[in-house]
Amino acid sequence: MPPADTNPTQSPEPALSDLFKQASKAALNSYSPYSGFRVGAALKLTNSAIVTGTNVENVSYGLTICAERSALVSAVSQFGPQIRIEAVAVANLNSAPSPPCGACRQVLAEFVLPDAPVIFPAADGLRTMPFSELLPLAFEMKST
Ligand code: THU
Repeated sequence: MPPADTNPTQSPEPALSDLFKQASKAALNSYSPYSGFRVGAALKLTNSAIVTGTNVENVSYGLTICAERSALVSAVSQFGPQIRIEAVAVANLNSAPSPPCGACRQVLAEFVLPDAPVIFPAADGLRTMPFSELLPLAFEMKST
């Protein structure tokens, strides 16, 4: 994937557009009876695989899993802990902005390449940003 283009007015390059479509398709499977907010995520891995996920809510609310983490758990389950993510797409079927939430950013940080483009619906339309700009100071455990 080429580096992210942070200009929201430009249309995304075809590979990212396709990833976004796959995220939208994944949102069709959303289990979201409590919020009605149907989210899908698609991760392009460096092994060329594309893995998708959707949000799965729970009556306890707090046990809800977001689409991005759902996709990540699926990717590790399918391909193992060495996976690296080279592009991320998030979509929703509610015509609303949906950048990845803070928790998902921290969880993705463990596996994503810093320059990986992340495409998501923003208030001003589809937006693409490098992951490192979305989460500049991810927590890392470096002890001596
Ligand atoms: N949600 C996601 O799937 N991804 C995010 O990054 C933010 C929120 C879901 C969780 C919940 O099911 C619904 O959106 C409303 O918060």
